[in-house]
Amino acid sequence: MQKPFQKDLSHSTWEEVYARQVQRADLVPAWIEALGLKAGDRVLDVGSGPGYVSLALADRVGPDGLVYAVDRSREALAHLERLQKERNISQIQRIAADVGTLNSGDLHADSALVAMVLHHADDPAGVLGNVHRLLAPCARAVVAEFHPQGPCEQGAPREFRLAPEQVRAWYEAAGFAVLEYRRQSPEHYMFVVERAA
Ligand SMILES: C[S@@+](CC[C@H](N)C(=O)[O-])C[C@H]1O[C@@H](n2cnc3c(N)ncnc32)[C@H](O)[C@@H]1O
Repeated sequence: MQKPFQKDLSHSTWEEVYARQVQRADLVPAWIEALGLKAGDRVLDVGSGPGYVSLALADRVGPDGLVYAVDRSREALAHLERLQKERNISQIQRIAADVGTLNSGDLHADSALVAMVLHHADDPAGVLGNVHRLLAPCARAVVAEFHPQGPCEQGAPREFRLAPEQVRAWYEAAGFAVLEYRRQSPEHYMFVVERAA
């Protein structure tokens, strides 16, 4: 029997989380396109989990680019590390940290992807606030989530889903302005946002 959903993902193995990332692979090209990613770019993958999306981002930015895969789970990042070694992908830097408090340090990201993370975060407003601090003026971010009015056939149960209005209030408070809102599927929506100049 399936274990009940937990915000911290303790109901799942990282292999299961990876399999769910693969299930929603169709969403990824629109995120990449909205970020305007090209060869040589440096992109922050916020809450990368076991890394399916980080690998797709790495494919787009190529060997001269860089993906910062940040996750609070060392086990999730170990899963990504294994895949990187198998595929000989070096342009992903794994960072085990809470994105809400991560310092910029040597991190220089042109854009950020915040996909299917906020409903797992203890402080989603803090995550968006710090992503804003980590990006340069006018940088883009994509924020994607499960829609509370979706059929809930996959992804988080309805009671854990975040309304677009709530997400919008958080990123506006953080200092992002909306460029586009899109319902990607009955289950999923995305915002394309820009950091204020
Ligand atoms: C559903 S998973 C992977 C989502 C992935 N971005 C995707 O699009 O498939 C969500 C991840 O967010 C991570 N996470 C949640 N809150 C976080 C935080 N404050 N800092 C870092 N990682 C966080 C979890 O550990 C988990 O691996």
